[in-house]
Amino acid sequence: MANTILVGAQWGDEGKGKIIDFLTDHAQIVVRSQGGNNAGHTVIVGGTKYVLHLIPSGILRPGTLCVIGNGVVLDPVAVAGEIEGLRSKGIAVTPENLMISDAAHLVLPYHRQLDEARELAKGSGKIGTTKRGIGPAYGDKIARVGLRMADLMHPDVFAEKLAARVAENNAVLAGYGLPALDAAAMLKDLLAAAEALRPFVANTVVYLHKAVSEKKEILFEGAQGTFLDIDHGTYPYVTSSNTTAGGACTGSGVPPNRIDRVLGVIKAYTTRVGEGPFPTEDGPLSDMLHGMGREYGSTTGRARRCGWFDAVAVRYAGMINGIDDLAVTNLDGLDSLDSIKVCTHYRLNGALLETPPMDYTQLAACEPVYTELPGWKTPTETIRRWEELPANARDYLTKITEWSGAKLKIASVGPNREQTILL
Ligand code: IMP
Repeated sequence: MANTILVGAQWGDEGKGKIIDFLTDHAQIVVRSQGGNNAGHTVIVGGTKYVLHLIPSGILRPGTLCVIGNGVVLDPVAVAGEIEGLRSKGIAVTPENLMISDAAHLVLPYHRQLDEARELAKGSGKIGTTKRGIGPAYGDKIARVGLRMADLMHPDVFAEKLAARVAENNAVLAGYGLPALDAAAMLKDLLAAAEALRPFVANTVVYLHKAVSEKKEILFEGAQGTFLDIDHGTYPYVTSSNTTAGGACTGSGVPPNRIDRVLGVIKAYTTRVGEGPFPTEDGPLSDMLHGMGREYGSTTGRARRCGWFDAVAVRYAGMINGIDDLAVTNLDGLDSLDSIKVCTHYRLNGALLETPPMDYTQLAACEPVYTELPGWKTPTETIRRWEELPANARDYLTKITEWSGAKLKIASVGPNREQTILL
């Protein structure tokens, strides 16, 4: 496997964790380069379920080194807790298999409070964030007032910087009618987390460049999805990082000419958590999937909104990310349907659109143009080979990937590692 960027080509929750886990059989290094603990990757190995928020799922493979890159925003207490949680399940987490960039920005308690306060203030216009403080933390980074892992590694200087940040943020919180935060109490928790994280903190950029020159194979695992990208998504109903392929380079320090391919991950249908336009959203399909116990968020437990496969969106994701191959997950979710709709175009004010409009109000006004394909009405979860899939399922996969403009490489028929069909 060459150096690969893996991206979600929809609104997140495409089943990336499972595909990443499958691919790390080959990768020596797995890098997370954006987002924070707003993400939730669920991986099931040997009957044990692991939900990872910040640590790359490569941690479950002995011999794989995981890197949390400079582009990530990281809640130190949450990461220290995630490490402990993994250890309690018998997973070794050591500096030999986890490195954290000293340039990664910190998510601090005032970011979480502000995230929640801003959402509340927006009322029905809320974004529907995960309330993990992601937006305010990236906001501080861009405003050049953020604190980074490198700061946390120097307790004396950090205490001073934190006190100044807490003072400024307390004034903002007061504007929302919220009580002031106690910098001293916050510092105690953070310094305890700092000591737990210290062995893992390093200049990951230098490490990754060395790894590239030694021809080690690197997998860049994307979090969230293309339409949650701060630049290319359905702004403002997006997350605050670049979830698209370019974000893997800026968020790790590995240059674009060292990347060999981009793999897009899509669900066989579409889901979205949080607010914002979603052209192919469908109530009965949501009810059916929720009735099967599927499509509840792994980070917040929220029921995901569900809809038909949207080839217009995925084609656009192909453009932005330069997707070479596609992995299609959750095919088994559609096993019981008589017929399945696929959106091939949008109609807006009488015009037929091939690509989604940038403005979210226009996207919300788009009407999906559907083609119906026959269902296969057969359980697929025990199938392991392409030839064994029902003909209608093969036809569905072939058509949705063709209409999306990329090659089908992997089909997934369940959450377990072995429920994977490689083409
Ligand atoms: P934030 O990232 O918490 O600021 O949330 C912004 C938007 O991104 C909301 O609609 C969230 O539901 C969505 N979001 C954030 N992380 C994920 C994820 O990992 N999967 C799916 N949606 C996400």
